[in-house]
Amino acid sequence: MQKNLFIYTFGCQMNVHDSEKIAALMEKSGYASVDDVGKADLIIINTCSVRERAAQKVYSQLGRLKKFKKMKPKLIIGVGGCLAQQLGSKFIERVPHLDLVFGTHNIHSLPDLIAKIEETGQPVVRTEFHEEVKSLGILAPTKNGKVTAYVTIMQGCNNFCSYCVVPHLRGKEESRSLTEIVKEVEVLAGRGIKEVTLLGQNVNSYGRAIGNRHDFADLLHEIGSIAGIERIRFTTSHPKDLSDKLVCCFSEVDKLCEHIHLPVQTGSDRVLKMMNRYYTNAEYCERVDKLRSICPGISITSDIIVGFPGEADGDFQATIDMMGKIRFDNSFSFKYSERDGTAAAELGDKVSECVKTDRLKIVQALQEKHTLEKNEAMIGNTEEILVEEISKNSKEDIAGRTRTNKIVNFRGSHTLIGKTVSVLIIDAYQHSLKGRLLDVN
Ligand code: 5AD
Ligand code: SF4
Repeated sequence: MQKNLFIYTFGCQMNVHDSEKIAALMEKSGYASVDDVGKADLIIINTCSVRERAAQKVYSQLGRLKKFKKMKPKLIIGVGGCLAQQLGSKFIERVPHLDLVFGTHNIHSLPDLIAKIEETGQPVVRTEFHEEVKSLGILAPTKNGKVTAYVTIMQGCNNFCSYCVVPHLRGKEESRSLTEIVKEVEVLAGRGIKEVTLLGQNVNSYGRAIGNRHDFADLLHEIGSIAGIERIRFTTSHPKDLSDKLVCCFSEVDKLCEHIHLPVQTGSDRVLKMMNRYYTNAEYCERVDKLRSICPGISITSDIIVGFPGEADGDFQATIDMMGKIRFDNSFSFKYSERDGTAAAELGDKVSECVKTDRLKIVQALQEKHTLEKNEAMIGNTEEILVEEISKNSKEDIAGRTRTNKIVNFRGSHTLIGKTVSVLIIDAYQHSLKGRLLDVN
């Protein structure tokens, strides 16, 4: 008998992709993905606690699910991801109607763990780390009509930025082999995928953990020669590992899109040092200059943390000055949030919540101004758009992204989905652009 699976996903693209892998794995055990949680026989909550305190949200979600368990006692509820890794069996002590807690290295075991719960009715906790993360190569199914896909190229992180839980909860850095990744992208190309986004916590250090036979630039060149793939993106990058060889890929690999997400975190050298980031503001700006000279018009986005312990007014002003100098196309900004077990949790001189709130507002207002100005400057440009879907604004419009990763909505036939077209930009907003279809390439 077919059973139904519903997944809640919190967090970043990597978690979204992990959820796709979970769906693929469970499909083999007879679970079909459904959009209605009420119909599920298995509910998985895939958690993330990198940027925000996920615990409260997840507990509330679990609380709401209790009624389904009462109605359907055989329903299985599982929690995975960062929070599951962190809490382990404490999770079940706190939420007795939970059946399964699985850590970030245990996704591959899900079918066995679920089968065990179905057989015994007993809760299961599995959070050990493995030498090799066996879920890295699980191929997610491609939904009908989809033209973009994620590809995991590495997982974990060895950097230990002082505020970050990732190395503690996702384990040490591990890269997949170049051959394996290329094979996966070829399979995706065969399914009609036109754009791949290569995923890793720090893709710039790809290959280091497998003896540097191939680095990230080599991988980009290889993927750049796969027939059918038109666009390559990647996320996320660490400025300290952004080599000249990698920067040159933006002029050498035609399919590499002109966009880089390069988290700066702060404009203050003093704070960068306390964050264990291993670059200075001048070095960051020099990398940005190099990117812009090799690839004029490249879109640069970033992450910014405000209110790190010890961040004085002068440090915050340095962040604002840096933003004015670089003018990011967009940025995600966060209030510093303490994480147990990280080095920054031991630091004194904490910044008060209201100062953090004020600083965040200032950063976000400045970013909104820069983003809108950058978008407005694109009016009159002709852009190459890969059409991805029917527009969220209107059924008569279609939507896709520029190579610089900006969303464009424009009037056009749904049959253009999957095609690359030329579009004239005629209007600009905070989060998107409006275009007029010129040509189908
Ligand atoms: N507090 C606030 N922001 C954080 N990030 C990571 N850890 C924290 C934390 N403890 C942000 C960083 C990183 C992004 C993925 O999340 O800016 O680049
Ligand atoms: Fe966290 Fe730093 Fe690793 Fe990024 S590079 S995942 S911020 S430790």
